[in-house]
Amino acid sequence: MTGPTVPPILSLIGNTPTLPLRFEPEGVTLFAKCEFLNPSGSVKDRFAAEVLIDARKRGVLRADSVVVECTSGNTGIALAMVGAAMGCRVRILMGEGASVERRYLMEQLGAEVRLFKADRGYRTGIELAQEMAAADPRVFLPDQFANPLNSAEHERDTAAELIRQIDRPIDAFVAGYGTGGTLAGVGRALKARHPGARVLAMEPAEAAMLGGEMPCCHWIEGVAGGFLPPLLQRAPIDGEIAVKSAEALAMTRRLNREFGLLVGTSSGANVAAALRVAGDLGPAATVATLLCDRAERYFSTRLFRAAAAA
Ligand SMILES: Cc1ncc(COP(=O)(O)O)c(C=O)c1O
Repeated sequence: MTGPTVPPILSLIGNTPTLPLRFEPEGVTLFAKCEFLNPSGSVKDRFAAEVLIDARKRGVLRADSVVVECTSGNTGIALAMVGAAMGCRVRILMGEGASVERRYLMEQLGAEVRLFKADRGYRTGIELAQEMAAADPRVFLPDQFANPLNSAEHERDTAAELIRQIDRPIDAFVAGYGTGGTLAGVGRALKARHPGARVLAMEPAEAAMLGGEMPCCHWIEGVAGGFLPPLLQRAPIDGEIAVKSAEALAMTRRLNREFGLLVGTSSGANVAAALRVAGDLGPAATVATLLCDRAERYFSTRLFRAAAAA
């Protein structure tokens, strides 16, 4: 993202590297896109920059605007970072269960954080954001769960980068969904390029809603927020892979300790699901996934408690 009015830090978003990771004893190589290397530390920098630059261009993001978004954290950190660089006021609505590190990062970037009771998942926060917008004309809603710019950015950039970086037909792409933006955007572009490619949704086994389960408590922050978001309906999903929270933590620790990759729990969940897919497709298959965010935002969570106990 460059241009005369674009703050320099935004030029660091995207073009993240894709690493081949060799797993033994499985005898499988996966391709993992390092989204944790985006400047605020997650895949969400892409949407935050896309939506705020677009809004400023269209004149709907003005000097007195307040950006309000409901998020499990990463979108909040990304909006706080982009907002700081663009001089916008940002207010984040976050469920009480999200890790405290995320709140500190947003506040450090100058955003205001309001916590809500997360017993109905993201829906409470989304309704709260809509009420704020109805009551105050200065409120601008990025609306990450329904805004087509979210998946459009992944369709245009994330997918194009993966296709260029892997440079051979991709047999399967595996990722979890929070908003569904990644699965919808990358999925559509990948199928347009390689029609035989399979697009598979990773879900926490405890809340495998695509698989017909009720939403429930799980430990994979950032995904499966208790409802099926509108963007996911436009994702060309061929199947679901359910990953138990404990398996996601174990794989995240494996990524941390065997590969030196300081990534968070949804990355471990994605890799656990991708390994299963690669096992099914056979050793010649090319399977790609995402490493979504950094380990540092999980200090207060089970991920670090489990690691300390081991
Ligand atoms: C840690 C983490 N992993 C995965 C995702 C899922 O990405 P998407 O919203 O594109 O479905 C998110 C979304 O916020 C996230 O924060």
